Amino acid sequence: MNRITARRRHPLARYAVLLLALALVGGFYALLAPPSERADAAIASGRADDVAQGKKLFEQSCASCHGLNAEGSATGPSLIGVGAAAVDFQVSSGRMPMSNPGAQAPRKPPAPWVNEDTVRQLGAYIQSLGGGPTVPSKDQVDATKGDKAKGGELFRANCIQCHNFVGAGGALTQGKYAPPLHEATETQIYEAMITGPQAMPVFNDSIITPEQKRDMIAYIVGVREEPNPGGAGLGRIGPVSEGLVVWIAGISLLSLAAIWITAKKRQAHK
Ligand code: HEC
Ligand code: HEC
Repeated sequence: MNRITARRRHPLARYAVLLLALALVGGFYALLAPPSERADAAIASGRADDVAQGKKLFEQSCASCHGLNAEGSATGPSLIGVGAAAVDFQVSSGRMPMSNPGAQAPRKPPAPWVNEDTVRQLGAYIQSLGGGPTVPSKDQVDATKGDKAKGGELFRANCIQCHNFVGAGGALTQGKYAPPLHEATETQIYEAMITGPQAMPVFNDSIITPEQKRDMIAYIVGVREEPNPGGAGLGRIGPVSEGLVVWIAGISLLSLAAIWITAKKRQAHK
C-alpha cells in the first residue's frame, strides 16, 4: 500500500495514469468499432462478390503466410484491421505477395495477376474482416490541387529524418531502410502515410489533415520534375547540409589523424 502511495506521488505517475486511460479508451473503441465499420465497408463497396472474389484470391496467394482467415502465422502478420489501403499499397507496389523472406519486403514489379480489379477485391475482403483505413479518392490525392510550398514544409518537418530527400531514402536499423520516393504513385504516397508500412509511423488525419497530405503529394511529385541544380546532391536540403557535411568530414579527418598519431606513439614506446 505504502509503495503504491509513494509511486502515486512520483512526477511520472500522472503520465502513467493518462497513458493507461488512453489505452483503455483505445481498447474499448477497438472492441466496439469493427462491427459498424464492417457494415460501412459492405455498403461502401456495394459489391458483395468483391469480398467473395477477394477471399478466393487471398486463399491462393496470401493465406500461406497470413493464415487462412488473415489471422496471421509464423511467416506473416495478422491483416485484421489493416484495411483496404494497406492491401492496395502493398500489392500495387509489388511488395506483396512477398517472395523472399527478409527484413523488409522491397518494392518490385507487381505479380502478373495484379490489376485494379484484383487489388480492389482483395482490399474488400480484408476490409470486411476488421475495417481499417480505406483507399483514398482520386480527388484526395490529386497533386494539381495541392500547395507545393506548404507540402515542402510538412515534408521537412515529418519525413526527411528517414527519407532524406525525395530521390534518396535512407538506412534505418536492423537492415531496414526508408526507400526513395521517386516511384510511389500519388495514391501510394497517401496510403503509406495512413497505413505506416514497416518502420514508418502512421500519420493519421489528426496529425496531418487530408488537405495537408495532398499538399505533401504535390511537393513530392513536384520535386521529381525539378532539374538537379548541379553539384553533389547532399540531400538537396540546402546550405545547412553542405556546411554540416564539411564539418563532419573535417572532424572525422582530425579524429583519424589524432588516432593515427597516438597509435604511432604507442608503437614507438613498445
Ligand atoms: C511469403 C510470405 C507472404 C506472402 C505470400 C504474403 N505476405 Fe503479406 N506480409 C508478409 C510479411 C512477412 C509482412 C510484414 C513485413 C513487411 O511488411 O515487409 C507482410 C505484410 C503485409 C501487409 C502489411 C500489414 C500492415 O500491418 O500494414 C499487407 C497489407 C499484406 N502483407 C498483404 C498481403 C497480401 C494481400 C498478400 C497476397 C496477395 C500477401 N500479403 C502475401 C508475408 C507475406
Ligand atoms: C521512421 C522513419 C520514417 C518516417 C518518419 C517516414 N517514413 Fe515513409 N517509409 C519508411 C519506411 C521504412 C518505408 C518502407 C516500408 C516498406 O517497404 O514496407 C517507407 C515507405 C514510404 C513510401 C513508399 C515508397 C515506395 O516506393 O513504395 C512512401 C510514399 C513514404 N514512405 C512516404 C512518407 C512520407 C510522405 C512521410 C512523412 C509524412 C514519411 N514517409 C515518413 C520510413 C519512414
